[in-house]
Amino acid sequence: MTLAIKGGKPVRENKIYYGRQWIDEDDIKAVSDVLRGDYITCGPHVVSLENKLCEYTGAKHASVVSNGTAALHCACLAAGVKEGDEVITTPLTFAASANCAIYCGAKPVFADVDMKTYNIDPESIKAHITDKTKAVVAVDFTGQAVKVEEINKICHDNGLVFIEDAAHSIGTKYNGKQVGSLADMTTFSFHPVKTVTGGEGGAILTNDDEYHTKLVLAHTHGITHDETLMEEAPHEGPWYYEQISMGFNYRLTDFQAALIESQLTKLDKFAARRKEIVARYNEAFKDVPGIIIQEEIPESDTCRHLYIIRLDFDVLKCTRREFFDAMSAENVQCQVHYVPVYYFPFYRHLGYEKGLCPNAEKIYEGIMSIPLYPKMTDDDVSDVIEAVRKVADYYR
Ligand SMILES: Cc1ncc(COP(=O)(O)O)c(C=O)c1O
Repeated sequence: MTLAIKGGKPVRENKIYYGRQWIDEDDIKAVSDVLRGDYITCGPHVVSLENKLCEYTGAKHASVVSNGTAALHCACLAAGVKEGDEVITTPLTFAASANCAIYCGAKPVFADVDMKTYNIDPESIKAHITDKTKAVVAVDFTGQAVKVEEINKICHDNGLVFIEDAAHSIGTKYNGKQVGSLADMTTFSFHPVKTVTGGEGGAILTNDDEYHTKLVLAHTHGITHDETLMEEAPHEGPWYYEQISMGFNYRLTDFQAALIESQLTKLDKFAARRKEIVARYNEAFKDVPGIIIQEEIPESDTCRHLYIIRLDFDVLKCTRREFFDAMSAENVQCQVHYVPVYYFPFYRHLGYEKGLCPNAEKIYEGIMSIPLYPKMTDDDVSDVIEAVRKVADYYR
């Protein structure tokens, strides 16, 4: 069959994108009810979302914040990350996973990833620990849980704080336990391509009371209404509050909280549909020469946020750009997640150079995210499979 890019008929008529939110009328009602009410921020929906997140994940505490980046910043602040410290993370992630260290004046240190799972390699974490290392930000890349047990042990043995960046992995279980209560702190993002959305939004979960107190202060200007934390208690009157540390305004609005809460009720349904699509892709691509699929560790029961194919250029006689453009012409819009963070000019100017993480760099050369979101129909999934096969066949 002739590729659409060479003048043939595209696999589908209308474009399909790599990710998309699923908003129903009940989500819209949840938001509009809040907008008609008394509190559109600092109200009861923020508190009830925090409770629901704890219920769902089994974590003791949750703080909801304005986005996943703010969540990572607060987690680093609560971990005590400061100037002169180092924070180990993966280069195969969105920039925020490393930027959060820089926000605190610390240095991100990039550990390499596993060639099969694309997740941070615990052995590489170990190899990068110095006396300056304060924390590890381990990303559940594409939704697959990192090797939680190993990383917990490494952090415990070396006095480091384990921050799990679970922006991709809400709904994933590790050894039967929901992501959210496995690390010292876990961060979520509720961006629209994520499994649960609030438009924007984020959360930090922890089982530790002290971290929780610090997280609350970090996202609300360092201000407290809690008398037990105040210096001047008993205070002057009901209006009184104190700023006891430096913090930020990273509050989530109540209408976003209501949307996320409404979406959370559908998380299991979303996760099940994502798993069905992933199973179809895995089955379809396992024997396509030139297409490598991501492997999973048995401990992770994954709610996949992204589905990544990796092009094997020993088999395919094309560049990634040619494959990507050919997919676009078939009306299947792909994306690449991610350019290794230290490739960016900002990081280059700080002195980071290519060659730091050979596995991540090798993986990056061939990866492409194909459409994956729960609202895809079975026909959509079939179209994507057909397009991948068609383009791979052509270039073999
Ligand atoms: C791995 C990872 N961490 C953190 C973030 C930041 O989340 P947000 O966009 O909600 O700030 C993202 C967002 O895409 C992400 O993919």
